[in-house]
Amino acid sequence: MQRNLLEIKDLNVTFTTDEGTFNAVENVSFHVGRGEIVGLVGESGCGKSVTALSILRLIPSPPGRIERGNIFFKGKDLLKMSFGDMRRFRGRAISMIFQEPVAALSPLHRIGQQMKEVLILHKKISKEKAKQISIEWLEKVKIPDAKEKMVAYPHQLSGGMQQRVMIAMALMLDPDLIIADEPTTALDVTVQAQVFELILEMKQKHTSILLITHDMGVIWEMCDRVLVMYAARIAEEANRNDIFSNPAHPYTQGLLKSIPKLSTDGKRLKTINGHVPSPTNYPSGCHFRDRCPFAFDRCREEEPPLFDIAKEHMAACFLIQQRELLNKSGE
Ligand SMILES: Nc1ncnc2c1ncn2[C@@H]1O[C@H](COP(=O)(O)OP(=O)(O)OP(=O)(O)O)[C@@H](O)[C@H]1O
Ligand code: SF4
Ligand SMILES: [Mg+2]
Repeated sequence: MQRNLLEIKDLNVTFTTDEGTFNAVENVSFHVGRGEIVGLVGESGCGKSVTALSILRLIPSPPGRIERGNIFFKGKDLLKMSFGDMRRFRGRAISMIFQEPVAALSPLHRIGQQMKEVLILHKKISKEKAKQISIEWLEKVKIPDAKEKMVAYPHQLSGGMQQRVMIAMALMLDPDLIIADEPTTALDVTVQAQVFELILEMKQKHTSILLITHDMGVIWEMCDRVLVMYAARIAEEANRNDIFSNPAHPYTQGLLKSIPKLSTDGKRLKTINGHVPSPTNYPSGCHFRDRCPFAFDRCREEEPPLFDIAKEHMAACFLIQQRELLNKSGE
């Protein structure tokens, strides 16, 4: 049995627009173990959703293109699978909670009908059983009057309600891997907490979860391991405790300093200087160098690879290598 349920190697995705061709995801490698919750965090536009959509081969093409890489799921490369096989995989083995509910729900069909069809297709159960499971799941995601909502069309529900239906559809099939892309942004805080409870229950059943968020608070509450992404590349990877107690990449350090705290002692929250550059305009060398307070000449000339810091802790910053060399010379 493979140790990792999902293993992504050297994934590269480009988009071609009027402004030219740019890398939305560059040399991205990571894995998700069985029963593990891995967080993918980073500012808007850094490539989180494109990474997630690539796993299910849902990148719109054109303008997008998976240029190279491997996406192994239970040892099989999803990028080499036929579209028919891939369709069977979606939902049953890997399901996705999309950032936008409209991407998952058909506007032409009633909620109940969509849920029942998916269940009958993937679980080979009777219509009655499918109806019962659908109602149970709508209740689990706290849809009021679940039975009545079964006959509603998506447009008759609020955005938050649609999001909950989509979450129910993703979880009810009991997949091996759930990709949750900002799953709770449209939900109020109490429902958000309940959805995270459901996700944690799935983990107890050994489901693996790739959880995409820009919220370090959610990462702390939910994740075992964390991938920090910046401008199309992985900047740092570590277990949750190491990311919070010993962040190595200046970008991760900046993200952590900008977490709102209940008591800020009257001090202003720190933000990372500058903005994420446009992907058509990423700087040479280290993509973070225009915003990095420690940048030096080498950062302009070379792309920093991921350097090992500790077991399963890596960061793409030359400072790590420098620190190591200094430590060695002082020994
Ligand atoms: N269909 C598309 N056509 C052109 N460019 C795209 C398309 N989808 C994504 N991109 C570009 O790819 C880059 C990565 O986008 P992505 O959606 O992965 O960001 P993200 O990290 O998910 O951001 P957010 O936190 O805002 O959801 C961005 O520059 C985005 O503009
Ligand atoms: S490689 Fe250079 S620019 Fe990039 S994060 Fe490290 S010090 Fe900053
Ligand atoms: Mg996104």
